[in-house]
Amino acid sequence: MRLYFLRHGIAEDLASSDFARELTNRGRARLANAAKVIKQLGLRPSVIFTSPRLRSLQTAEIIAAELKIDLTVSEAVNFGFDLSDVKSLTRDMSYDDEVMFVGHNPDMSELVNKMTGSDVAMKKGGLARVDVYDREAARGELVWLIAPKVFDALRQQGAKTLRNDETASAALPDKPAVTHSPLHALIKRRWSPVAFDPMRPIEKSELFSILEAARWAASSYNLQPWRFIVAPRDNKQEFGKVFSVLKEGNQSWAKHAGVLMIAVSQTHRDTGEANSHAIHDLGLAIGQMVLQALHYDIYAHQMGGFYPEKARELYQIPANYEPKTAIAFGYRAGDLSHLSHAHRERDASGRQRIPLAEMVFNGAWAQRASFLD
Ligand SMILES: Cc1cc2nc3c(=O)[nH]c(=O)nc-3n(C[C@H](O)[C@H](O)[C@H](O)COP(=O)(O)O)c2cc1C
Repeated sequence: MRLYFLRHGIAEDLASSDFARELTNRGRARLANAAKVIKQLGLRPSVIFTSPRLRSLQTAEIIAAELKIDLTVSEAVNFGFDLSDVKSLTRDMSYDDEVMFVGHNPDMSELVNKMTGSDVAMKKGGLARVDVYDREAARGELVWLIAPKVFDALRQQGAKTLRNDETASAALPDKPAVTHSPLHALIKRRWSPVAFDPMRPIEKSELFSILEAARWAASSYNLQPWRFIVAPRDNKQEFGKVFSVLKEGNQSWAKHAGVLMIAVSQTHRDTGEANSHAIHDLGLAIGQMVLQALHYDIYAHQMGGFYPEKARELYQIPANYEPKTAIAFGYRAGDLSHLSHAHRERDASGRQRIPLAEMVFNGAWAQRASFLD
């Protein structure tokens, strides 16, 4: 688990109470810079816990807005934040989760020191990364500490790139799920875009993790009835081969994907016995893949619109396997000029779901579950 400790930014000296002390304009501006650098460095906390004191809350809000993630106000991160609070707040997190805490000194510096055996003093707006290797003992390694001045320098150095990114993201429609209950940030963020960036390949290591996520899905009798034909964009021949089995409507946008895949389900065991859960399990594996991909900002767009029999023929897929879907993976494009008007509209359009009451029953079929009331 990776923890980030961020001390709140520069705040006014006086207010009606310590609780109400706000960030100064300089404090805000520096944090806005820091937030952009944090984003560019690829930090992806799934949650930000902040102290409720206004200067901390405002700091967390600036970072959360830039990273487009939720924040949680927690009394535990207020004055007196200590190791037991870190343990209890991260109890349900998984080993590859990233969590950020925004709070006050001396707690922030003391926590980093206690966890890592270092002797650092965190400045206002400073950020430390601690990789936890012993959760029980709350011990970890201090991987880096970024002082506010270093954020300023990094921002200036990367200003050109950052400016380009800003232009790009300003053009990107953002459409997180509008939910009635809190959701994991990845589930909330996921959607199926058509605007992929043809210039940005998917790193091999990330592709491996995406496939590994499928590998570790649950399946009936652990039969793992999924297979994937995978074509990274830089392998022109293979990419062209998978591309050729897509229906024309999908080809029009999927040609920009970083990776194309055909997802195949093993509908019958080699003995001939049918596996009635094969399609269920393939879908589950793909669900894991899609979220793992999004962890790296790689979006997936699944397609039923392809020619399975053509895929069977091209790849000599045996009769007990069925090509079920094709999937396009890629980074989202900032420049939408290559897209048709209809595709641009599609990415900008809203998202809808049927209400829980229409899909969650008890008592009798189609009877809205009583606990929903
Ligand atoms: C099995 C499956 C097949 C799909 N087929 C296509 C397709 O052929 N073309 C397409 O543009 N989108 C396709 N989609 C994407 C859906 O239209 C999309 O997931 C749905 O509208 C919900 O939108 P969201 O993923 O953005 O939340 C498919 C999705 C799934 C899961």
